Amino acid sequence: MAVVLKATPVTFVAHALAAACAVLVLVWCISFRGGLAWEATNKSLIFNIHPVLMLIGFIIIGGEAIMSYKSLPLKKEVQKVIHLVLHAIALALGIVGIIAAFKYHNESAILNLYSLHSWLGIGIIVLYAIQNRKFKYHSESECQKIRRGSASLRSDSLPWHVIFGMFVYGLAIANAALGFLEKLTFLENSGLNKFGAEAYLVNFTAIATVLYGAAVMLTVYAQKEQEGDDYSYSSIN
Ligand code: HEM
Repeated sequence: MAVVLKATPVTFVAHALAAACAVLVLVWCISFRGGLAWEATNKSLIFNIHPVLMLIGFIIIGGEAIMSYKSLPLKKEVQKVIHLVLHAIALALGIVGIIAAFKYHNESAILNLYSLHSWLGIGIIVLYAIQNRKFKYHSESECQKIRRGSASLRSDSLPWHVIFGMFVYGLAIANAALGFLEKLTFLENSGLNKFGAEAYLVNFTAIATVLYGAAVMLTVYAQKEQEGDDYSYSSIN
């Protein structure tokens, strides 16, 4: 039995979840944890940049990049450029978010890279960067093929780009959930009420993040309603 999934409703659900995630993480870091700062005597304010940039910058903007083929009623060439630009922004914000976590650790005399979350985090950002570079390279080499009049206009590696991309994105979602769990456990070990408002807020933020990731990944396999445009990946001209 074939399951047909329409892209538009799934992208609407994903956008709503993205807005919920952004509001929840900002309320947590600003109202409950005292705000964000790059330079501060209260080093926790430096740490707070990390979840905000990893969720809003890396996961949400990265998800919007993935969905751009299905969510924007634009020409394929324009969609491709938006896809690449959003991924580049997500990568840049993700790198700044990780630097904030290192800065917080260094200025608080806490060791770096001691947890599964941190190891996976480094792996994810490296794989994400490789994926970005490879897709850009393939798009450019395809263009050259087209200009040379080659019969093979679609790169065989593009389905791998999608599969590998889904793998890395799924890993990023799981690692964000791990990050929320880790931080909440630290806070609870320092006295935070396990059934208090903040604990619920952090857990709901993690649940909203997982649901957003699931919605983003579903859009990749969902069908566009318009006839004559498969919104598939191809080269950037
Ligand atoms: C996909 C998104 C994320 C990635 C790639 C990521 C990556 C990293 C990395 C590489 C570190 C190590 C920094 C160091 O050793 O100095 C780290 C630390 C940390 N992150 Fe994340 N992070 C992500 C999301 C989050 C989120 C959403 C939270 C929620 C609060 C979080 C909580 C933490 C905590 C508590 C630490 C310090 C403890 C540790 O090193 O494990 N992370 N993160």
